[in-house]
Amino acid sequence: MKLHERLMEIALNRSFLIPSCEIYGTVGGFYDYGPVGCLLKRKIEERFRQFFIKKDGFFEIETCSVLPLPVLEASGHAKNFADPMIKCKKCEGEFKADELVKGVWEKPEELSKLLKQEKIACPNCQSTEIEPAGWFNLMFKTNVGPVEGNTAYFRPETAQGIFLDFSRVFRNHGTKLPLCIGQVGHSFRNEISPRKGIIRLREFTQMEMEYFFDPENDKIDGFAGVEHEQMRIMVAGSERMQKMSIKEAVKKKIIPNEIMAYFIAKQMRFYIALGIPYEKFYFKKMGKKDTPHYSRGNIDLEVETSFGAIETVGNAYRTDFDLSSHSAKSGVDLKVFIEKENGNGEGKSEGRKVMPHVVEPSMGVDRLFWCILEHTFREKGNGKEWEWFDIPPIIAPYSCAVYPLMKKDGMAEKARAVVAALREEGIDAAYGESGSIGRRYARADEIGTPYCFTVDYDTLKDDTVTIRYRNDGGQERVKISEVCGIVKENLKKGRVKLNG
Ligand code: GLY
Repeated sequence: MKLHERLMEIALNRSFLIPSCEIYGTVGGFYDYGPVGCLLKRKIEERFRQFFIKKDGFFEIETCSVLPLPVLEASGHAKNFADPMIKCKKCEGEFKADELVKGVWEKPEELSKLLKQEKIACPNCQSTEIEPAGWFNLMFKTNVGPVEGNTAYFRPETAQGIFLDFSRVFRNHGTKLPLCIGQVGHSFRNEISPRKGIIRLREFTQMEMEYFFDPENDKIDGFAGVEHEQMRIMVAGSERMQKMSIKEAVKKKIIPNEIMAYFIAKQMRFYIALGIPYEKFYFKKMGKKDTPHYSRGNIDLEVETSFGAIETVGNAYRTDFDLSSHSAKSGVDLKVFIEKENGNGEGKSEGRKVMPHVVEPSMGVDRLFWCILEHTFREKGNGKEWEWFDIPPIIAPYSCAVYPLMKKDGMAEKARAVVAALREEGIDAAYGESGSIGRRYARADEIGTPYCFTVDYDTLKDDTVTIRYRNDGGQERVKISEVCGIVKENLKKGRVKLNG
């Protein structure tokens, strides 16, 4: 069994994931998060907020999932957000052309030629009578209200809501550039062939940021603090992995500007803190063919997994594409007035109107979730007869567990008081009374719980408990009054040091 097959079985059995609509027979591309997975996913999202958004000039918003057609006409998604299709004349099966045809084409005639040249056979019936079958738009269509014709779509990216709300956020929050707006939320893509578990979903979660800046000043505060971070990078068209500082990558024009470079450095730190080893991910400068219609340069982050390398982050230099398009379509001028620095501060303000440019770091939550499972999964061994997860404490589903050694003699009551105190402090603490204590430790390891506290007979005498550490199974005594502090202290810890 391949690692991803085993992991999916484990994820289902240990309440990380649940196939959506399971009792009706599942629909591909939809997964629910179970009680354990939900805790982990929320923590990834919360860490994203802590790591990227909680800064001066950065704001989070929450926008609607349903967007009227004109918005998506302006963004280009109505026209461009489509996959080329091919159809088998014999069995009428339809497939994504990208998946079967290696060569490059632009027009249907070129695709027809390649289908013959590459002797493409239908994956269903092996016939080679295959022809181009147009483009399939990946957006889910709906209708607003009872009257047909009010076409709308489920958003294919959270970004559009941010562009639509930009001018109000700008006005209400200081009328200054740069300004960064982030959003965590669901997006929807009607994938033709969803697969690989939660890697290609039809409903998924994004953590996106749009960093609006004056195109005459593409600098960002904090760059100097990260400019020496070493990134591993591949440039499309070359299989060669290079290692260079982000500063050098900007100088060589591999990264379009310092703003994107800054976010790339932060992404490296974020991934390492969340348990993805430095040598297991790298950046990829995309070629023209794979660069989205709105971007003047894309750098993806890819993680090595048992499915192969998967893209988990897209960094795009969206320029003023979206704001200009929405200005033109809506008739609302989205240029902003920025005051000249060091003006005389008296009377009429001096400055100029600019259409802000945008760098967009766009991170997929579900894919990152899967990568964390893959890279923190540990086989049996070193004293453990069970497979376990070495999930960093900062995102472990449960930060700790509390167990009474036995239910009797007041131990359960005492243990319940300890768990209640932890929960009161906002800590996700599990509680369990059933099974041997060894079995309970094993179950805690199996979902990555870093610390267990056990109430025993000594606790009743001296108010101390045993703390048991997940990674080495080591144990020591601590005072009950110290328990919250220990968990909180360890919650702050993460693997933030870079190897490069
Ligand atoms: N906002 C970029 C993307 O969703 O692909």
